Amino acid sequence: MTDKFTDLAQEGRVHRRVYTDATIFDAEMERIYNHVWLFVAHESQLSEPGQFVTAYIGKRPMIVSRHTDGEIHVFANRCTHRGMKICSARRGAKKRFVCPYHGWSFATDGSLIGIPHGRGYNGKIDPKDPALALDRAARVDIYRGFIFASKAPYGPSLIEYLGPMTRAFDNMVDRAPGGEIEMSGGGFRQQYKGNWKLHMENANDLMHASIVHASSVDAAQSVADGLENEIENHALQMFKGNGLPLSKMDEVEIHGFAGGHSYMGGFYKEGPITQSNDGDPVVNQYRKSMVDAYGENRADDIMSWDTFNHLIYPNLILNPKHQQMRLLQPESVDRTIVHSMCFRLKGAPEEMYQRSVRFLTALNSPASQITTDDIAMFNNIQMALCQSDTDWIDLSRGLGHDRKQDDGGKIGEVGTSELPLRAQYSAWRDLMSA
Ligand code: FES
Ligand SMILES: [Fe+2]
Repeated sequence: MTDKFTDLAQEGRVHRRVYTDATIFDAEMERIYNHVWLFVAHESQLSEPGQFVTAYIGKRPMIVSRHTDGEIHVFANRCTHRGMKICSARRGAKKRFVCPYHGWSFATDGSLIGIPHGRGYNGKIDPKDPALALDRAARVDIYRGFIFASKAPYGPSLIEYLGPMTRAFDNMVDRAPGGEIEMSGGGFRQQYKGNWKLHMENANDLMHASIVHASSVDAAQSVADGLENEIENHALQMFKGNGLPLSKMDEVEIHGFAGGHSYMGGFYKEGPITQSNDGDPVVNQYRKSMVDAYGENRADDIMSWDTFNHLIYPNLILNPKHQQMRLLQPESVDRTIVHSMCFRLKGAPEEMYQRSVRFLTALNSPASQITTDDIAMFNNIQMALCQSDTDWIDLSRGLGHDRKQDDGGKIGEVGTSELPLRAQYSAWRDLMSA
């Protein structure tokens, strides 16, 4: 069956088994997640030696740690003695990692440094044996503070892998007048009962927003109608933004790239959330700090790039304008965890950070009226796809009308095109057949 994977993801349609078949999920972990570059941590989480975060490469638990020499190391969160997960904390600082089972201890670069009661091995185990170090990711690289790891010793460099998507990272960091961003304030974790790809397919789907999120659009509109002269807050503007008419959604740019990446243009058209409102004192103060740092032209270039979600295949979603990030952690064929977090722009007014926290809360918290709608879709799609009555899922909206661009990617004829899904499945086919 393994040779037939590519038949399941055709141009314009995919077979339901790519969402429901556990053997395909296992093959995805092996052929996709073990080969590409995956985001594992942000440098601001590891500013001091000994600081660490735990992460995943596919289903493999990993530790990302800054060693005493300042280098960042990424290694398996799995003891080389009898397989215990060494660290259960999500982040923290340690001088060494001590396995909670029999006490083997490992340095912050993953090397084995101690075995309690070691003479029981009668000299057969040498703690200096490199094979007893925690298994290291084959490659680690950093782009603008974003740390990526790959299990594959060969393949494209991180910059080659990100390709035109580097602009999203650049824009996110350049939006900080101080030239640096900081992952701050924790974030949210939510599990849904559905395949990981359902979330990636949704994140750049401009067709669904006004339909799936109609109830929060309507509720926000009626609150806004009752405000009289009061200024609408950001959450209200976000909820209303999803209600942009489909004819207007079609005017939003949608881009897809080789490698499965994609991004969409911004679709908030009114209010301070657009960051173009001269009457908003926070935006005015922020703009001033940007002009002071970069000069007028460059500050305008950075701030005027109006985009929304940028999808870095297979599992990262970046929103530079609102300093948001989501990371998918596939657990099984029908379970996925979504991690969502936001960034502080160094040198920007504190209120900009408060806005990005409110954005995160309105869009990605378990109480969000937006994300709960989407998760209900994922759960219900997953359940329905388990029925074998109809095998194929259609992705043909806009097929044949995607136009090539100078950046090497394609642009959809209209914003509601399913171009991003086709880009994802083109990468899926390439990786799954490799
Ligand atoms: S499993 Fe880690 S010390 Fe035994
Ligand atoms: Fe949605």
